[in-house]
Amino acid sequence: MTDALSPSDAAKRASAWRAAEFVADGMRVGLGTGSTAAFLVKRLGERVRDEGLRIRGVPTSARTAELARAEGIEVVTLEDVGRLDIAIDGADEADGELSLIKGGGGALLWEKVVATAAERVVIIADPGKRVATLGAFPLPVEVIPFGLSSTQRLIEELLEGQDLDGRRVELRLRDGQPFATDEGNRILDLHLGRIGDPRRLALLLNQIPGVVENGLFIDIADTLVIGHPDGRAEVVELDDADPRAPLAGRDNIFTEVLG
Ligand code: A5P
Repeated sequence: MTDALSPSDAAKRASAWRAAEFVADGMRVGLGTGSTAAFLVKRLGERVRDEGLRIRGVPTSARTAELARAEGIEVVTLEDVGRLDIAIDGADEADGELSLIKGGGGALLWEKVVATAAERVVIIADPGKRVATLGAFPLPVEVIPFGLSSTQRLIEELLEGQDLDGRRVELRLRDGQPFATDEGNRILDLHLGRIGDPRRLALLLNQIPGVVENGLFIDIADTLVIGHPDGRAEVVELDDADPRAPLAGRDNIFTEVLG
């Protein structure tokens, strides 16, 4: 890659390169999806070739799997390794609590499964992804094709009662056809403007039959690495040292339900 990068790509590369330093020999690594994560996979590929770094990578999409193999990274499944030492992925938005919107690239389901199997989750992003309140970016929700319009109607009814600035739900298309995820599902993009209570919305959406998963990542990210166009990278750690402690013993997405 030359330095003829746009400022945004230079920032993405800076964050990815900084996060690549968190990867040590022997680690099992979750590999994210998207343009920022592609810089990470390429950087790890360089380290494999130049330093003899030995890692096993679990990709979060078919396209990341293809890129990782092309870069010479050993690609394995989550079933092969069980747990991951680290997962590194991009995001569409990140707020001050490191709550995220993800899924702009349509890979949110595998991304969430991979992230929640990791000891440490590092999010890589350019400064534009940092927001005070989530919701300007449309929230992706993965739904099964069966009964799609019924599921969409239930989501629209749910949104009526929530603290939001917008409520438009749109089926994602690609080349004029419904977009299909790596699991063969569909994506509904929720144009909400502002999400007043992301934790509540994330819980409620997943109660609707037909919804597989939503793109709100709450209590999942540990570290945010913000890259800048000049090559600098800022590392933000979540105050809570161990967000993956047992569910009943910490503040997490289920706290209000479990008491
Ligand atoms: C993929 O489904 C997404 O969650 C990506 O992580 C997100 O869209 C960020 O992508 P970019 O790095 O391309 O902005």
